[in-house]
Amino acid sequence: MIKIKNIIFNDPLIIASGILPDIPRYIYEFCEKYKPSAITTKTVTLFPLEPHRAPTLIKISDGIFMNAIGLGNPGANVINEINVNCPLIVSIGGSSLDEILKVTQIVENKAQIIEINLSSPNRKGYGESLSTLVGEIVKNVKGTTKKPLFVKLGPWDNVIELAGKAIENGADGLTLINTIKGLLIDVESFKPILNYGTGGISGRCLYPIALRIIRDVYEEYGVDIIGVGGVYEWTDVIGMLAVGAKLVGLGSVIIEKGPEVIENIRNGLNNYLSEKGLKFEDIIGISVKR
Ligand SMILES: Cc1cc2nc3c(=O)[nH]c(=O)nc-3n(C[C@H](O)[C@H](O)[C@H](O)COP(=O)(O)O)c2cc1C
Repeated sequence: MIKIKNIIFNDPLIIASGILPDIPRYIYEFCEKYKPSAITTKTVTLFPLEPHRAPTLIKISDGIFMNAIGLGNPGANVINEINVNCPLIVSIGGSSLDEILKVTQIVENKAQIIEINLSSPNRKGYGESLSTLVGEIVKNVKGTTKKPLFVKLGPWDNVIELAGKAIENGADGLTLINTIKGLLIDVESFKPILNYGTGGISGRCLYPIALRIIRDVYEEYGVDIIGVGGVYEWTDVIGMLAVGAKLVGLGSVIIEKGPEVIENIRNGLNNYLSEKGLKFEDIIGISVKR
């Protein structure tokens, strides 16, 4: 049993933000059928945002993707139409503190956890663009919500420092990590392959980067962490827990292998735990000296 504040999760397997569309019926059915321990919504903004023009998602090779969907979403009000039996982590975004505060108010009742997306690299003025304001944003949002507040950060050199600012200002936890910004060129047109130009790289190549960052943040602050980045196998989940994650988000693996992979990963984890006589709580942070 894993606990964050007063919320209980059956196991660490949750869905990362942006992997399921913000369609209430779809989210309900996904939860019923595949039973993740929580679902993170795609990031919502105050008003609907159109995604960038296609192509917005490409597979670079097995296990590696690049996307620039650009936070396309139906707007925060859709969250209030979601009725779901698994805990809902609502990912919120905006292009200003004011917008983020308004979105917080809209989603407050439905969210078990609120996750502020300060890390998406795919739309100017949003996500990563606001990361240096993390202290001010967290302080203000914390003042208006009763829900546990997480901040999602990216694989940057200053991530430990930004994580510290989030915690100092009242964040209850961190979600680590978002995609890393990349670029690919089409050799016929000499233009970027993704219409937006750059995109966020996700998948297996992120895993060791995510592990290093989660370890460093956990070692420094001992805070609750939702680990995300390149998790494909049950062994990846164990590694992420060992460096301090309490929950583990599945992203690209769901796109590549389909939601049935949740059951495979879950079986692998349960076999491992029963062979070793361990519980998830025994593993969280076990590889980190604190
Ligand atoms: C198609 C796609 C859309 C995404 N949209 C969001 C989003 O709206 N908000 C967000 O915080 N992260 C978003 N992400 C990032 C994922 O939540 C996750 O942090 C990242 O993909 C790394 O995990 P993975 O390697 O398991 O995919 C998106 C990722 C993908 C592949």
